[in-house]
Amino acid sequence: MTKIVYASRTGHVEKIVNQLGVTNALKIETGEETIDGDYVIFTYSTGQGKTPKLVEQFLAHNPGVKAVVGSGSMAKHAETFNFGAENIAKAYKVPILAKLDGLGTPQEIEDLAKSLANL
Ligand SMILES: Cc1cc2nc3c(=O)[nH]c(=O)nc-3n(C[C@H](O)[C@H](O)[C@H](O)COP(=O)(O)O)c2cc1C
Repeated sequence: MTKIVYASRTGHVEKIVNQLGVTNALKIETGEETIDGDYVIFTYSTGQGKTPKLVEQFLAHNPGVKAVVGSGSMAKHAETFNFGAENIAKAYKVPILAKLDGLGTPQEIEDLAKSLANL
C-alpha cells in the first residue's frame, strides 16, 4: 500500500488511519518531517476552510503527494466542509479519495481502503 501521512488534532484522522489497518503511518507533529517517495496525505480542516499550517509545511518540502483524504465537520462547518483537503487537491493537482464527516461511515472506510489498495 502507498505510504500514509496524516495530521490529527483531536483524534478523528488518527482513528480513520487505524481503522484502515495502517500500522506504519507517519504522523505530522511539526511539519518538518520528511518522507521518501509517494504518499497519501490525510488531514483535518481548521480556521474556516484552512489546511493546517503543519500540513502545508510538510507538503512544501515533500514532493511525493499522490492523493488526499479529508476529515471535516458537516454539522459545524458545512460551508467549508473539508476545504482543508480541497485546498491540497487544487494546489497539487491530486485527487481527493474521500471527504469524511468526522470518522466517516463504515462503508466509506471500506471504499477508501479499496481506493488506497488500487493507487
Ligand atoms: C477551529 C476549528 C475549525 C474547523 N474548521 C473546519 C472547516 O472549515 N471545515 C471542516 O470541514 N471542518 C472543520 N473543522 C472540523 C475538523 O476538521 C474535524 O472535526 C476533523 O474531524 C478533526 O480531525 P482530528 O480529530 O483528526 O483533528 C474545524 C474544527 C476546529 C476545531
